[in-house]
Amino acid sequence: MPSTTFRIFRYQPDQGDPRPYHEDFQLEHDDKLTLLDALLRVRDEQDGSLAMRYSCRSAICGSCACRADGRTVLACMEQVESLKERNGNGAVQVDPIGNFKPIKDLVVDLQPFWTKFKAVKPFLVPDGPAPAKERIVAKEAMQKIYNESKCILCAACYSECNSLAADPDFVGPAAFAWGYRFAADERDGQRRNRVKLYSGDHGVWDCTRCMFCNERCPKGVDPRDAIEKLGSIAFQEGVTRDKGARHAKAFLISMRTGGKLNETLLVPFTDPLGAPLDAPFAVRMLQKGKAPSPLPHKIKRLDEVKKLMKNVKETI
Ligand code: SF4
Ligand code: FES
Repeated sequence: MPSTTFRIFRYQPDQGDPRPYHEDFQLEHDDKLTLLDALLRVRDEQDGSLAMRYSCRSAICGSCACRADGRTVLACMEQVESLKERNGNGAVQVDPIGNFKPIKDLVVDLQPFWTKFKAVKPFLVPDGPAPAKERIVAKEAMQKIYNESKCILCAACYSECNSLAADPDFVGPAAFAWGYRFAADERDGQRRNRVKLYSGDHGVWDCTRCMFCNERCPKGVDPRDAIEKLGSIAFQEGVTRDKGARHAKAFLISMRTGGKLNETLLVPFTDPLGAPLDAPFAVRMLQKGKAPSPLPHKIKRLDEVKKLMKNVKETI
């Protein structure tokens, strides 16, 4: 029978100990044990004070998210033997999800997550009077938002988000996945207002595209893709005045006119008012040979790039 050490994050300020630490627990188990079952056995057999959240035990409610050896997972979806295979048969370290304040052991304060979720208006706001019966939508139209509709609000993506680590006010991947789910719903009448709400400071353009949310989402929601699709709706709706959208536009213009990125164009285009303040820095970079030439440059086969851009435009 396999035996495993679980190195579990402990934090019990209510017991008068404000310092977090890790505590080892040993379990003998069969090879079908899930991480959630292991945590429950530790609580039931060794330390009744271990705090954690869980409910469905079936990857549905989203409450058992935690980090196993640094990766955010649903504890009920993770086999202990697979974790050990991954970490070279060592102790399995269990921590609370990231980007949240721990309250007790593996339980964190989820309030910021729910506040941001509510702020994106995660519900349908249709135009016009309600129909007598229901608003019928074609299956193909619902297919567009199928991925985002699978979200169970487990916060695994939030836990892994690099933008949130740098800016705790960033709205975050799950909330934006819900934002897209309604912005792209053809019954919704708030498409333009929604992308206005999701742009600006801490909004969709502040995503650093690290892709960890897509990688770690246990339900295949791909929240980064939803953020990208919100950016594209913002362009379709003409919501392009904030810095992020202008930055994206600068990429587009430099590809269209030169066939490759013109870094010098990026700063003045993204932030025309702030750019003069960066001028001395830019001059110093030029003097040290660290900046590309400010003169416009064009690649030889610009027509090929334009063809590619046209193809991309036609496929989205
Ligand atoms: Fe969880 Fe995925 Fe929804 Fe994020 S997008 S809350 S990881 S289900
Ligand atoms: Fe519900 Fe794990 S206990 S998702």
